[in-house]
Order: sequence, then C-alpha cells, then structure tokens
Amino acid sequence: MKIAGRHYRSIWLHDNGWGVYIFDQRKLPWRLEIVTLETSAQAATAIREMWTRGAPLLAMTGAYGLALGLRENPSDDNLNATYAMLLETRPTAVNLKWALDQINSEAQKYEGSARIAAAYALAAKLCEMDIATNAAIGSHGLPLIKDIHDKSNKTVNILTHCNAGWLATVDHGTATSPIYRAHDAGIPVHVWVDETRPRNQGALLTAFELAEHGVPHTVIADNTGGLLMQQGRVDLCIVGADRVTRNGDVCNKIGTYLKALAAYDNYIPFYVALPLSTFDPMLESGKHIPIEERAAQEVTHIEGLNDQGDLQKIKLMNSGALNPGFDVTPARLISGFITEKGLLKADALLS
Ligand code: MRU
Repeated sequence: MKIAGRHYRSIWLHDNGWGVYIFDQRKLPWRLEIVTLETSAQAATAIREMWTRGAPLLAMTGAYGLALGLRENPSDDNLNATYAMLLETRPTAVNLKWALDQINSEAQKYEGSARIAAAYALAAKLCEMDIATNAAIGSHGLPLIKDIHDKSNKTVNILTHCNAGWLATVDHGTATSPIYRAHDAGIPVHVWVDETRPRNQGALLTAFELAEHGVPHTVIADNTGGLLMQQGRVDLCIVGADRVTRNGDVCNKIGTYLKALAAYDNYIPFYVALPLSTFDPMLESGKHIPIEERAAQEVTHIEGLNDQGDLQKIKLMNSGALNPGFDVTPARLISGFITEKGLLKADALLS
C-alpha cells in the first residue's frame, strides 16, 4: 500500500541482504520512522514493545527474527534459544508460533550457512504468501460489500475495530483488504473506525492507512458503535483476528466482543477476516486462549502531539488500571469468516 504516494510493505529486507526494515509503528501517524532490525534480540524487542504488531506481521517479524538469530549463530542450541525468546514476546496471536514453527522445521533440515540461507529464503516466501493470502481475502470479501451496495445503491458503512490493515500484515491487511478492493472498484464505502483504546490502533493506524488510500472514514470513540448500529448507520462489521479456535471462537483486540454483541442485537452482519494461519486447531474453544495482559500505563497514560509538535505522554488518572489486550467473541455472534479459501462458516475452518 502507499504512504504519500510511495509503495511500501510493512516489513522488507535491507539492501545488505540480512537486516530487516520495519516501521516503528509507535510513532505513526506522526512520524514515518523506518528502523532496521539487525539482531534477533532487536526483533524480540520490536515485537514485545509493539514497534511492529498485528497477528500476521508479528509472524513475519518472528520469522525474520529467527533468521537473524541463526545468522548470529546457526547452532541447534541457538536455534532453540532464539525460537523460545521470540515465542514468549507476545502470547495471544497464534500466527507468531505458526511462523516460528515453519522456520524452525525448515532450519532443522540444514546446518551452518545453509541453515541461515534456508531460514531467510523461507521468511521471504512467508511474506510473499501473506500478500497473496490478503489479496485473496480481499477478493472473497468484496462481494459482501458489493451486494449491500447493489441492494441499497447507497454508500456502504463498514465498522472496523483496531488495526487489521496493511500495517498489521505485509500488505493489503485482512479486514481492510475487501474495503480497499471495494473502494478501488468504485463502490462507495465509508468506514467507522473504532479508536481502540488503550493503544488507539484504530485512530492512529487504521485511520492513517485509510486516509493515505483516500478511503472515506470517521474515527469514533469505542463506545459509539452501538448507537450507530441502532440508528441504522452501520451496514457491516469486519474485524481481524489474533486466534480462532476449533469451535469458531474469535480472539481479537479488546472491545471486539462488545461490537459483535451490538451487531448481533441489531441484525448487522459481523465478519472476521483472517488468514488460515490465525486458526488454531489445537484449542477447542476461546476460553483456552492466553490473553495478553499489558502494562497498566497503556490505560493510565496517553501519548499524542503537544502544541510544539512533539510527541508527549501525559497521565490521565490517579488510579491503577487493568489492561487485558484481547477478548473472545463467541462463534455464535459471527456471521462468517473471510479467508484466503473463501467465505467460511466456523465448522468449515477445520476441513
Ligand atoms: O495488539 P495488536 O496491535 O498487535 O493487536 C492487533 C489486533 O488485534 C488486530 O486486529 C489483529 O491482530 C488482526 S491483524 C490483521
């Protein structure tokens, strides 16, 4: 996708052939800072501290992080230690483990410099696959938007939560991919962007992406979606996912569940867009998913630009806070899954 007319992916290999570029997403949309990851420890920090984020992008950062670790030392011991270090960075999105497992099994087939080369080659391939997967999600989700427009001949109002856009993947995004496709096809769309407290991925990242692509959108406080649904101002909800279990329960950014409840109560279709690498066949239901608990400071403080144009963090309250990063939306509230294999119901995810 484009920023100021220039095409970017959200992760890409340095010209030196081994370093990895990412955006420091903590600075967006205020500053476009590209940083180079040169060690596996830096990759782990970038994931843990959310320089890079979003389930599919965590996976790709982990894949390259393991390749960087093997470049430091391709021994079995270091492969195992780097795998463990990267895996513990963020617990909820299963895509990270999926990618680490892929690189790990590929690396086991080789030793020494061949092991390093194999890890880099597979990390690059996984990134290409992510782009193709998200493009397919766009194609499969497009008819949902088109059908609404064909019936109403009006702008289609879509609500999304958090950032499941191209910044959360290598390109295109998951939840945003059908939206970009519809917009590019000339279907009038407007996106209600949940601000997504406490980290504000909606207000800061999704809104930024949509603006750069020229997609009409409005940021709303997280509490606003229910009212808009009651007023008939939401036609469709599309969100991403961090882990989907065998029964179709969806773990996604905290607050997703409340939007799904409101959508269900108002007969509004609620779709989850995901690559199948987000599906965890090992877990029966959402109650087994580890929910990341993040620092209370993400709730008690907020960061933005001050009048001098500098990024500044301010304290919002005196009390302590609880900050679970994700919640689980039960399968019964979900209209369907938009995947690279097409629109699926929960029971089809397993096949
Ligand atoms: O904590 P984050 O910013 O990594 O959470 C991101 C989300 O919850 C996304 O909606 C999800 O990963 C889907 S990304 C395509």
